[in-house]
Parts: sequence; C-alpha cells; structure tokens
Amino acid sequence: MIARAEQLWAEKYRPKTVDEITGNNAKAKEVLKWVEDWINGKRDKKALLLYGPPGTGKTATVHAIAQQLNLDILEVNASDKRNAESMKKIVGAASIQASLLPSKIRIILIDEVDGISGSEDKGGINELIKILKSTVNPIIMTANDPWSPNLKPIRDLCLTVQYRRVTAASILNILKKICELEGVEYEEAALKKIAEASGGDIRSAINDLQFFAEGVKVLRESEIVFTGSRDRTVQVFEALKQLFGAKTLEAARAAFNTVDMDYDMFFKWVSENAYLHAKTPVELKNIYDYLSKADILLSKIIRTNNWSILKYFILLMTAGVSSAVTDKYGYKQYQFPSWINLLSASKKERELVENICLKIKLKCHVSAKKAHSVFLPFLKIIFQNNPSKAAKLAEYFDFADEEVNWLTGVVRKSR
Ligand SMILES: Nc1ncnc2c1ncn2[C@@H]1O[C@H](COP(=O)(O)OP(=O)(O)OP(=O)(O)O)[C@@H](O)[C@H]1O
Ligand SMILES: [Mg+2]
Repeated sequence: MIARAEQLWAEKYRPKTVDEITGNNAKAKEVLKWVEDWINGKRDKKALLLYGPPGTGKTATVHAIAQQLNLDILEVNASDKRNAESMKKIVGAASIQASLLPSKIRIILIDEVDGISGSEDKGGINELIKILKSTVNPIIMTANDPWSPNLKPIRDLCLTVQYRRVTAASILNILKKICELEGVEYEEAALKKIAEASGGDIRSAINDLQFFAEGVKVLRESEIVFTGSRDRTVQVFEALKQLFGAKTLEAARAAFNTVDMDYDMFFKWVSENAYLHAKTPVELKNIYDYLSKADILLSKIIRTNNWSILKYFILLMTAGVSSAVTDKYGYKQYQFPSWINLLSASKKERELVENICLKIKLKCHVSAKKAHSVFLPFLKIIFQNNPSKAAKLAEYFDFADEEVNWLTGVVRKSR
C-alpha cells in the first residue's frame, strides 16, 4: 500500500529555500531574517519559538534556511525520553565546536519543546533554560502548543512566531506540483478532496497523496475514500494506543484490524514506537524480543511462501508486544517509521565510526579492532560528559564536526 522502497514524498519534496515554503511564507521570511541578524551579530533574543498546528512548515522552514545559508543543523527532539540528557549533549557538542571553530555557526533545532512541559520534566526545562542563556549558536524551537505554564520561562526568553493552518488552495498547488514531478495523472477534484481533508496540514496531505497515488495510473476522485477517521496517521495512532493499552489478547489482536494497512507496514509502526512504552530495560528487551521473533517469522513466510503462519506473526506483533508492556497508558508522541532514513544512516554511520577508529589507530598505534573495542567507548563517555577535555581530544585526533557529533551522541542533520 504505502510505497516501501521509495522515499516519502513529504521528505523528497521538502522546500530547499525559504521562497519555496508555501502557506506560512511570510513567517518563514521572519525566521530567515532573524537567523541572518544572528549571523551579523544582532542577537536581541537568543532563541526563536515557532508554534502552530502540525504539518504547517515549521521544521521545513528551519531546514530550508540551513540549506539556503549553508549552515549545519544540530537537531534534538525535545520530547525524547532522555530529554534532560540530550539537552546536555547539545550544550556539550555546541560548546566543543564553538571552542574549536568559533566562526562556524550552526542552527540548533529543538523540535517539539511542548513535549517536555510535563511536571516530571523539570530537569529538561531547566537544562533548556541554561542552554538558552548561554548559547553561542542560534536556537530555534518548535511546538504545537506552547501555552503550558511550565513553558513560560522559555517563552519569555524567545521571540515567538505563529504558524497557521495552510489553506486548501495552497496545499492543492503543492499536490499538483508533486503529481507532475512524479508523473501521476489526476482528476483535479481528487487533489481538491485530499487538500480539503488535510485540515491545513501539508505533511498529511502529501502522505495521503502518496498513499492514494501508489500503483494507480490516474488518480480519480472516486478512489479517494477516507475510511474511519479522516487521517490515516490518526488512525494508526489510535490502533497503536489500543495495541499497547490492551488488557486482553483479543483486544491487542483486534487493534491491527482497526487500521487499513498492510501487516508489514503496521509492523514498522509498532517497531518504531514500542520503546515509548517501555519503563525498564528488561521491558524494552522483552518487547523487542517479541518483535524480533515476529520479524524472523515474517522473513520465513516470504521466503517459503507459507502464509499459514502469518497469524502467528500477527499475534507476536500485537498480543506478544502488548503482554510485555506495563506502561500502557498516557500520552505518547508516536512517530512515523523512519526505517528508510535508518537504512541509509546506518551505512553512513558505519563509515563514520570506521574513520574515527582509523584516526585513533594512527595516533595511538593500536589495531583498528582495539581502537573500536577499547578506545571508542571511553572517548564516548568523555565526549558526553566533559566538553573541555573533549575539545582537546577532538583537536588531538583531528576529528571532523560530524565525528564530534557522533561521539557526543547528538543527532546531526545536515541538508
Ligand atoms: N511548499 C512547501 N511548503 C512547506 N512544506 C512543504 C512544502 N512542500 C512540501 N512540504 C513538506 O510538508 C511538510 C511540512 O511539515 P513540517 O514538518 O515542516 O511541519 P511542522 O510545522 O514542523 O509540523 P509538526 O508540528 O508536526 O512538527 C514537510 O515534510 C515538508 O517537506
Ligand atoms: Mg516539525
């Protein structure tokens, strides 16, 4: 159903310049001006907070600016479970880099700050405030709902920019352009229907387009049917909630039936998000034990064409996983499966680690294997905990920026 080997169109067609940002273009220009001012030394407010509904171009704006101005982005997702920790890593990475290359400016993108507004996350908020006060790089944060009282101290330190839902007419234009580039023929009414159903969310409109356009020659209005709730993403979120929250085997099993999706795609959704429901390492292990068993079964099914065992795959993926979860309720910020990015990232990452080990090998006259097994783990600990020592080591080993980022554990996204 959803393209498997292909890239997500919402990613593939992400704006490369601020001019390409549709809908909230004027806001994007404000953001660009702020970043340019920062580069030119005008730094009245240390950070920007972009807020507004999902899919309206907040993150896309930051990526477009980075690409346009040729800046790197250090990106963390604030709703990450280990947010206080990841906040610290950013400060660490940013300050190491600032002391190495004082002139190189990077945008620090902290996505979904509203994800850390819960009272249990005071640590994360306090870290963030410290970062905002001491940063040597421009910080841009995004949020859907910035009005939580816990976020007030953060709001006070920022310039805020409000993004609004994008009109159906603007979304229609984006969809038309993508169809043309992808060679998809369409009835205008079909695209209109998708645009109108999106509720001003560009990302979900593009995802819906990709879903409906997959495998058809001409996209017809009559084929655009939104089953159940309008947005399939919402539908999957509901199914995941039901799966992880299930108290009985049957309820967990039934969760899969509520969603109009292939079993292997649903498997990716479950795999991507199951960790959010693990409270302890043991639970995490148990959850992923079930998922890996399911995965093995699935490849066996495909290899041997023995579909009679599909039901066991589905049971492992649903009832198995659900039985291993004790953190069943509460709001979780489910993510779209990132397996495509992961696949390409892992090859890149391997090369990156090999390079780091090569540098260690040359400086310390040890084998690459020893560099990997003995030196690397210690370097990581130092880089994640002691920025000033790390800066010296980075210089000594001549680590490149992305190697420093990898050692500090910061997710780095460049253009
Ligand atoms: N012309 C365009 N303008 C804006 N976004 C576009 C355009 N064309 C494609 N897109 C895609 O639409 C999506 C916009 O969503 P984006 O991720 O920026 O939303 P967001 O406001 O950050 O939402 P959230 O609050 O959920 O993080 C991106 O995937 C972007 O690549
Ligand atoms: Mg975003």
